[in-house]
Amino acid sequence: MSSAKYLSVFTSASALQRKENFENYWEFTQQHGGELFEAEKDLAKKRARLQFFQDNPVKLRKPLENPDAFYRNYVEMQDDPKSLDRMTLMLTGMYKFARHEWVGIKGAWDAVPDMANSHSIEDKISRVHLAEEFCHVRLFGEMLRTCGLDQVEWVSLGPIKEKIYEQFPKFPGFLMDTPAFVTELMGVTFYCHLDRLFDDVLADEPEVRERMKLLLDEITIDEVAHVGQRRNFIGAIGMKVSKWLVKPFYTLFFNDIPEVGVLFDVQQMIKDGEAFDFNQLPEHMIERSWIPSYCKA
Ligand SMILES: [Fe+2]
Ligand SMILES: [Fe+2]
Repeated sequence: MSSAKYLSVFTSASALQRKENFENYWEFTQQHGGELFEAEKDLAKKRARLQFFQDNPVKLRKPLENPDAFYRNYVEMQDDPKSLDRMTLMLTGMYKFARHEWVGIKGAWDAVPDMANSHSIEDKISRVHLAEEFCHVRLFGEMLRTCGLDQVEWVSLGPIKEKIYEQFPKFPGFLMDTPAFVTELMGVTFYCHLDRLFDDVLADEPEVRERMKLLLDEITIDEVAHVGQRRNFIGAIGMKVSKWLVKPFYTLFFNDIPEVGVLFDVQQMIKDGEAFDFNQLPEHMIERSWIPSYCKA
């Protein structure tokens, strides 16, 4: 498409382009999130936005019929997923996706240098990136509360899986950068599909549907920027590896969340990941997000 504004995220870039893009991203991320509150793993602008949502809550017109079904299945699926209604499946599935993120960032936060000890632009970017991810977990918590679920706890994955997540950020870049990029891409793909699912599952709940979309937008806008930023770490060979990794990565990850296979078209998510080029994103998101210069047509 010659009229497309953006190019594939897998478009190659020179070392100089990537250096310039790191500098540009660093400028972007500081104004995007505002002041970093390291002790609270939080950012000023994101905190204010969450506070606004909490100060102006919306509620379901018709409360969840069976919150126990959520609480019984949200950490581990106990029932046959096909026996659960789509609303419950959507909420438990969202929790499980967010929980993986939470475990990953918890391990990484302690493994990477704090801001005072971050000397390269890449390290500083990574510190703010992690703080944003903690904000996402809070936004997911707010989404669940909006649906009346205020007893949700973030439960760890068990010592072995947690240990693996903790080791991951200590890997050398050439091993870590491609899966880290594909993970961000998987996030954006999942959130785009989740946004469409809200239209369907929350068709009779317009206020909650709009609120869920606003909360999810806050996350997706960051994740789109993370996709470009993590892509910027990767050279030519790594880009080929990344594209090749999309299918096995998405397949493995989503197989682990039984809700996803019931609610979403995983094959389509894989295709969307491989074809990702920013052009499908709405303008209001692009305006607040970040795209590498070499992905602009
Ligand atoms: Fe995230
Ligand atoms: Fe992210």
